[in-house]
Amino acid sequence: MASNGQAEKVAEVEENVGDNGDTVTPWDVQSKSDKGIDYDKLIERFGCQRISDDLIQRIEKVIGQPVHPLLKRGIFFSHRDLEFILAQKEAGKPFYLYTGRGPSSESMHLGHLIPFVFTKWLQDAFDVPLVIQLTDDEKFLWKNLTIKETMKLAKENAKDIIACGFDLNKTFIFSNFRYIGQSPEFYQNIQLVAKNVTFNQAKGCFGFTESDSIGKIHFPSIEAAPSFSSSFPFIFGEDSNIPCLIPCAIDQDPFFRMTRDVAPRVGLHKPALIHSVFFPALQGAQSKMSASDETSAIFLTDTPEQIRTKITKYAFSGGQSTAEAQREKGANCEIDVTYQYLRFFYDDDEKLQEIKKVCTSAYL
Ligand code: TYM
Repeated sequence: MASNGQAEKVAEVEENVGDNGDTVTPWDVQSKSDKGIDYDKLIERFGCQRISDDLIQRIEKVIGQPVHPLLKRGIFFSHRDLEFILAQKEAGKPFYLYTGRGPSSESMHLGHLIPFVFTKWLQDAFDVPLVIQLTDDEKFLWKNLTIKETMKLAKENAKDIIACGFDLNKTFIFSNFRYIGQSPEFYQNIQLVAKNVTFNQAKGCFGFTESDSIGKIHFPSIEAAPSFSSSFPFIFGEDSNIPCLIPCAIDQDPFFRMTRDVAPRVGLHKPALIHSVFFPALQGAQSKMSASDETSAIFLTDTPEQIRTKITKYAFSGGQSTAEAQREKGANCEIDVTYQYLRFFYDDDEKLQEIKKVCTSAYL
């Protein structure tokens, strides 16, 4: 059974807001600092582990190739039980990947691409099956959208996801509204989780209050259930218990902390996780790029002209406040949004270094 032997925190309300004022929940990410979320503090608060250089080397040994730049640059920075998944692979035993998207907008944005681009790489490097959950039901519960609208958005978002190039023979993309009625096993696992989480735990993990709808309070069990391979009997068999690895940004961690608490109690493997930091909003790292705030995001359907306008109009600059200070110190790339975007998407390490050097140099 997967376990990192660490006491995992499931029911502490304080987890949603750290003592430094950073808020990280699946529905809200905010920091008080220009540099964004303090990820070291978050790791401590959530009880996960930083990905060490040794672990990266072990991954490279297992897959026989260098890791993806998103991992090498520390954008995927934290994990739960990744060693267990590597041990499975080393022993020639199976595992699968699980990730997802909550379809709240017609098009996905650049931040949403991060876990999908990385998952595509993981699928190729480990040659494993992948399931992708589209939580149209979540967006129906949380947003002012009809069921039909969320189902339509799920279909539109599926096109963006397919465009990432997943292995057609090893990938299953499903909408909750459609799949729950088709798979008794999926519904059974949802109930298995729901029965084993109290309202108190759900409040602690997600910050629910008594005025939240019972739909919201039950929803986490629906995001939890794909962590169990028996939810997909046509892929893994009816009574299977194949371990899973979940790539996502760290905002989704509360769902899987809850799942990992339930799993051993129902005789199933805990899901392993690999977490990314947040792709920053155009306005800066204090919040993540979010589809709910259109001016914060670059959408996959934006034209080059629209992107240019958004960058020049909104992108937070790391430039100094006066021309003189800029000449003396150069820009601060840690907070410069355009430089940060290059860190996520520009693969050429040498050129990226050069750009950083030019931007941060004094030119007196
Ligand atoms: P959603 O639609 O909010 O986000 C989809 C995926 O993108 C990640 N993400 C980001 N990553 C980097 N920078 C950002 N600014 C950013 N914004 C979002 C999210 O962490 C997520 O991985 N409830 C989920 C859907 C879901 C899911 C899952 C996600 C269902 N099952 C399993 C991950 C794993 C949601 O609404 O994601």
